[in-house]
Amino acid sequence: MAGDAEIAADVAAEVRRLRELIRHHAHRYYVLDDPSVPDADYDRLFDALTTLEAQHPALVTADSPTQRVGSAVAGVDHTPFASVVHGAPMLSLDKCMSEAELLDFDRRLRRELGIEGELTYTAEPKIDGVAVNLSYAHGELVLAATRGDGTNGEDVTANVRTIGAVPLRLLGTAHPARVEVRGEVYLGRAAFDRYNAQARARGDKPMINPRNGAAGSLRQVDARMTAQRPLSMFCYGLGLVEGLVEGLVEGLVEGLVEGEFAPTSQAELVRQLSTWGLRTNTELRVVHGAAAAVAYAAALLARRDQLGYDIDGVVFKVDELALQQRLGELSRTPRYAIAFKFPAEEATTVLLAVEFQVGRTGAITPVARLAPVFVGGATVSNATLHNMAEVQRLELQVGDTVIVRRAGDVIPQVVRVADDAPRGGQPVPDLPAACPAGGAPVVRAADEAIARCTGGLHCPAQRKQAIRHFAGRTALDIEGLGEKLIDQLVDRELLRTPADIYALRRDALLEMERMGEKSVDNLLLQIAGSRTPTLARLLFALGIRDVGESTAKALANHFGSVDALRDATEDALTAVADVGPIVAGHVRAFFADPDNNTVLAALLDPARGGVVPVAPPPRPPDEVLPLSGQTWVLTGTLEQLTREEAAAVLQRLGAKTAGSVSKRTTCVVAGPGAGSKLTKAQELGIEVLDEQGLIALFERHAVS
Ligand code: IVH
Repeated sequence: MAGDAEIAADVAAEVRRLRELIRHHAHRYYVLDDPSVPDADYDRLFDALTTLEAQHPALVTADSPTQRVGSAVAGVDHTPFASVVHGAPMLSLDKCMSEAELLDFDRRLRRELGIEGELTYTAEPKIDGVAVNLSYAHGELVLAATRGDGTNGEDVTANVRTIGAVPLRLLGTAHPARVEVRGEVYLGRAAFDRYNAQARARGDKPMINPRNGAAGSLRQVDARMTAQRPLSMFCYGLGLVEGLVEGLVEGLVEGLVEGEFAPTSQAELVRQLSTWGLRTNTELRVVHGAAAAVAYAAALLARRDQLGYDIDGVVFKVDELALQQRLGELSRTPRYAIAFKFPAEEATTVLLAVEFQVGRTGAITPVARLAPVFVGGATVSNATLHNMAEVQRLELQVGDTVIVRRAGDVIPQVVRVADDAPRGGQPVPDLPAACPAGGAPVVRAADEAIARCTGGLHCPAQRKQAIRHFAGRTALDIEGLGEKLIDQLVDRELLRTPADIYALRRDALLEMERMGEKSVDNLLLQIAGSRTPTLARLLFALGIRDVGESTAKALANHFGSVDALRDATEDALTAVADVGPIVAGHVRAFFADPDNNTVLAALLDPARGGVVPVAPPPRPPDEVLPLSGQTWVLTGTLEQLTREEAAAVLQRLGAKTAGSVSKRTTCVVAGPGAGSKLTKAQELGIEVLDEQGLIALFERHAVS
């Protein structure tokens, strides 16, 4: 028996030794980007530890390097994405866009602090990733959370534990009882490209850009999926610190080695993070005075493409912590820091062709086909040119060298023709007189910038998109009837209108690419299940111009049946809140078109489509929801939700969503790329929220 105990002691010592070694090598590899051993040696150590732990499960600890994926952390409830309260709020940063604004910031701070000479700042890249709060208790990682609304975040511990750059245990021996470390989780460009190449090869959807990729990876329900997306993290600050120092500068708590943790400057604080084994950015510099700050930003901007990760600016923080404290913070942003945002990234490429695309309602849009170019975190090979007036404004010629821009998630844009390159010389084709998809005449109303194909449901392009819209998630929600399948079915003339969906036969579906027995049976079930939509969804699914989800709902509530809506006069239609003369005109035009009526009749015919609109689930009329009586407008791109999802949640909370901003608008949610609606909201003094603010609101009302 004594022998066993001795062996166990040896094994325990060996397990400890292996862990130390693995931690050391992992730190060199993931944190310092400076590997100390060949991968094969590292793998051997890892395998040895895995084997020993398998033989002696009692020796397994949550902070063992083998436990990055799928280990529960003792003592903390880790329901994925559960709401958690940050120990100290996670603030955001004030922004400035120009050198002049940066100089203003510096002047203001010096005035407030009464400093005549230069102020010293830390300068570091602003990483385009996802802010994460790591909580360490006595050196062990116990919680990782997203920023959320700054006060409450989401528990993403299981996913963050898979990030090699995040130590499960801090280096060194003396650690605060609890410390929150703030930083940015991101996906490097090489990892992004590698992931996308593999995803394309597997037939999976590629990530849009590295930031979306990082956000999506942190939101995986299965941490094994996150582990396959090599995220990394830069740490740049602290939140709550307990059990070591009172304030950051006031001094040490009993029992710790003097000098262990008493940073007096931001730069020292970041150095402390790196001695704990956390990854910090090697681009961080201390700069003296505003001119040096400006020079840092210019130099970093020039090297932006060589960094290996996406950045969207520079963060400057007053270096001296005592001065930071004197400056304090406003409600959401510290006054000692500022984000100097870089202009949207631009790249130069060649305009290969201008082609015309047909939209769901027939709009013909000129589209620039570009030589593929990496800009703003994604490869761009197409950009909408909106309309012919825009083509003329840009004075484009095919073959031109053009500047393209893509800020964050915003739709790629052709900004201008490069003025230092030879011209392309080939004229841009005129707007076609016949639709490029089906040959129907193209017309342009005198008061519209947009030209339209008059083919309606006879036009194959409109047909495909009408069916796509009809089957889409916010319409009849027929899962499995996706773009590729619709294209095949329309091309083989098995689908001409949405009504034909209900006549699709099993044997015909089995002929389609990638359609096995199982997918066909699932699809048929989905189709059968879609036969009883609410009237509102059915009206929305029909794709009447300018009838979005909320107008469809208003029309359904008001008229109660397809027949009543078909018979409605213009006056009856404009009596509905949200419906003006233009929308009323579109509704009447839709029902005046014999083709549309044929499709509708087939859809509703019990012997054919068999679609039967049902009443929506009853809602007590006097129920007062949190946002009852409010009107919200969504504009720009959202990242975590689609606009439709956001609108659906707002509607569940009682708000109406509208397409344009007016005095009656309660609030505008503006994402990147927001334009005139945002400007109008600002002019009218209407409250504007960003996506984080919206999500925070949802969280407050416990909806998602
Ligand atoms: S400091 C109190 N440093 O930018 C200051 N933030 O707009 C807290 N970010 O939510 C932030 N790189 O997600 C800081 N080097 C950096 C950063 C950085 C990216 C993000 C962070 C924050 C947002 C603020």
